[in-house]
Amino acid sequence: MSILFLSPTGQTGGAEAALHEMIAGLRDAHPSWSLGVVLGSDGPLVDRITALGARVEVLPFPPALASLGDWSVDGVGSLIGLLARCAVALWPTFVYIRRLRRLLRAHAPDVVHTNGLKMHLLGAWAAPKATPVIWHFHDFAAGRRLTSRLLRRSARRCAAVIANSRSVAQDARSVCGDATSVYPVWNAVDLVRFAPTGPRADLDALAQMPPASPEVVRVGLVATFARWKGHETFLEALSLVPASVPIRAYIIGGPLYETAGSQIALRQLQERAQALGLGSRVGFTGFVADSAAAIRSLDIVVHASTDPEPFGLVIAEAMACGRAVVASRGGGAIELTEACADSVTHMPGDARGLADRIEELAADPALRTRLGASGRETAERCFTRARMAVELTPIYQGLAHVH
Ligand code: GLC
Repeated sequence: MSILFLSPTGQTGGAEAALHEMIAGLRDAHPSWSLGVVLGSDGPLVDRITALGARVEVLPFPPALASLGDWSVDGVGSLIGLLARCAVALWPTFVYIRRLRRLLRAHAPDVVHTNGLKMHLLGAWAAPKATPVIWHFHDFAAGRRLTSRLLRRSARRCAAVIANSRSVAQDARSVCGDATSVYPVWNAVDLVRFAPTGPRADLDALAQMPPASPEVVRVGLVATFARWKGHETFLEALSLVPASVPIRAYIIGGPLYETAGSQIALRQLQERAQALGLGSRVGFTGFVADSAAAIRSLDIVVHASTDPEPFGLVIAEAMACGRAVVASRGGGAIELTEACADSVTHMPGDARGLADRIEELAADPALRTRLGASGRETAERCFTRARMAVELTPIYQGLAHVH
């Protein structure tokens, strides 16, 4: 069996970490399979996947294509702007598809597995007719006006859809239609790296703050700077936690993706923190490559997405690290918290509710320990690489007719 994965970026956000774990799981389960990856940009993922023994090639997206995205299109003006950007991207995209087609012909994989909305379309357009293409959905697509239309029109070139949660699977069905088989398959987490003990990041130093006193409870949001990850809800919640509660908060992460307008700027968040009078109660660490070390430095991991979260890899990673999590109740994140015997949630965008949950957890170390233990148990049961490989194997074999 040979599988060629196509993924838009070499950066390591959630969908890319999930790709890495998926390849690691398949490599362990089927050492004889040939696994290759084509990335739309260079970045740290190249070395990480190469280290797994898979071949990695970078076929860089032209800039006009890299920055193209319709997630923020909500008015006629911005729709016209998007169409203008599409027009500029048209020719470079056409050239890119030709190069991708040549590359796919040269590799002649049994299956092409695409890992992001742009690659779903490019893969479907570039793959030879006889090669099955699997679209792996990490995000909701139905709400994206242009992308969902293009996906619907190209769905007949897609042999199967894998979705990172049941919630995303439902959305994918509405986009691709009933003729496409859709399989919900949860992501895996590296349970050795994301473990309760191990190195910790010095968050105070990273945020350029004086060391916090020992009784301080550390609360953090670990996320890319996508606008819907709820940084502002988190900051507002912090301003509602009484000053007498000894917490220090951290915003861990930075703008990662190139899609125009999709990311919030650090300065915007810093200004908001200042306007809320948070002062030294919150620090900004920037992107931390070793996210496991960052998570382990926290007592409470906050997930605050204001839109339904497709899966919520950071929730799974925090569970695996045995940390107490407060998750926002929406999308696939609900499935993760429901799998856990003990979980604490708040409604998306509800800063008051989030503040109350933080206050309860800050005051109750025994509750934090209980949540952490139950999270780790859930991770060992639900997020193993082996489980993911077992679920994926029949999908590939059914499509490639290789047994
Ligand atoms: C995307 C989703 C996120 C998910 C990740 C891995 O980044 O937005 O919810 O955890 O992919 O599937």
